[in-house]
Amino acid sequence: MNATCASDFNYIRELVRRHSAIVLEADKDYLIETRLTPLARQAGFASLEALIAALRANSATSTLRNQVVEAITTHETSFFRDFHPFEALKTTVLPELLAKRSSSNVTIWCAACSSGQEPFSIAMLVREHFPTLRNRVRIIATDLSGAILARAKEGLYSQIEVNRGLPAVLLTRYFQRQGLQWRIRPEIRQMVEFRQNNLAESWPPIPPLDIVFMRNILIYFDLGTKKAILAKIRGVLKSSGYLFLGSSETTLNLDAAFEPISMGKSVCYKLRQNQML
Ligand SMILES: C[S@@+](CC[C@H](N)C(=O)[O-])C[C@H]1O[C@@H](n2cnc3c(N)ncnc32)[C@H](O)[C@@H]1O
Repeated sequence: MNATCASDFNYIRELVRRHSAIVLEADKDYLIETRLTPLARQAGFASLEALIAALRANSATSTLRNQVVEAITTHETSFFRDFHPFEALKTTVLPELLAKRSSSNVTIWCAACSSGQEPFSIAMLVREHFPTLRNRVRIIATDLSGAILARAKEGLYSQIEVNRGLPAVLLTRYFQRQGLQWRIRPEIRQMVEFRQNNLAESWPPIPPLDIVFMRNILIYFDLGTKKAILAKIRGVLKSSGYLFLGSSETTLNLDAAFEPISMGKSVCYKLRQNQML
């Protein structure tokens, strides 16, 4: 690799960090190359270097800059991803919240929701197993990426996407075939409010939350960003609330206010009593 390439990679790493807080290690240069080369061609540049030169010279549009950040970001997700957190929701968390507060609303936030499979999985679970909660549950789903949120709002999935994690009975009950794709039915689509939000910047007003799903996103941030985000979650999570992280994520050594709780094969986090709001 020549010096220009190294500085180009550094420039992209810095750009991605500035806009998303995602830390790209130096060994991820291949990722920059493989994901941005097709984007460069598609945007009419002769090479990846030409695209980066335009970004550096500020002659690229903000749309193109966002496309660069989005191309580098991992949007990997699936319906009922990891299965166990959804079991915990069904068998323990929602029954407990319902028993405590039989009349009030339950507010759930899916932070970093990607193309919508996670919030729609929660919506289907509520509809299937907690019919009385159907009109009292509010599911807010956010992501940094406008493009991925547009996909989520569409609720249109390929055969491969619905084959991943979605039980056949839920596919037939809650999706309509549309050509080669499957569209989520309006009754599930309407249960989810999609909004754009950068977890690493200041948040718009968020109502007090009963449940936060913030899975498979903290791993991409540096220590300071992880701590700052968990501190902000503390500010919006109700004292009785639950936080779900990805299976390789934890609050341990990041924020002592959270206590891990084992639920079957899943771990979630609650605020310790002395930290309650
Ligand atoms: C790996 S996906 C996780 C999706 C889902 N939570 C799951 O576990 O299946 C990570 C998502 O985080 C979003 N993201 C990246 N940086 C973000 C940020 N700073 N704030 C909010 N979302 C971000 C990406 O656009 C992507 O859709």
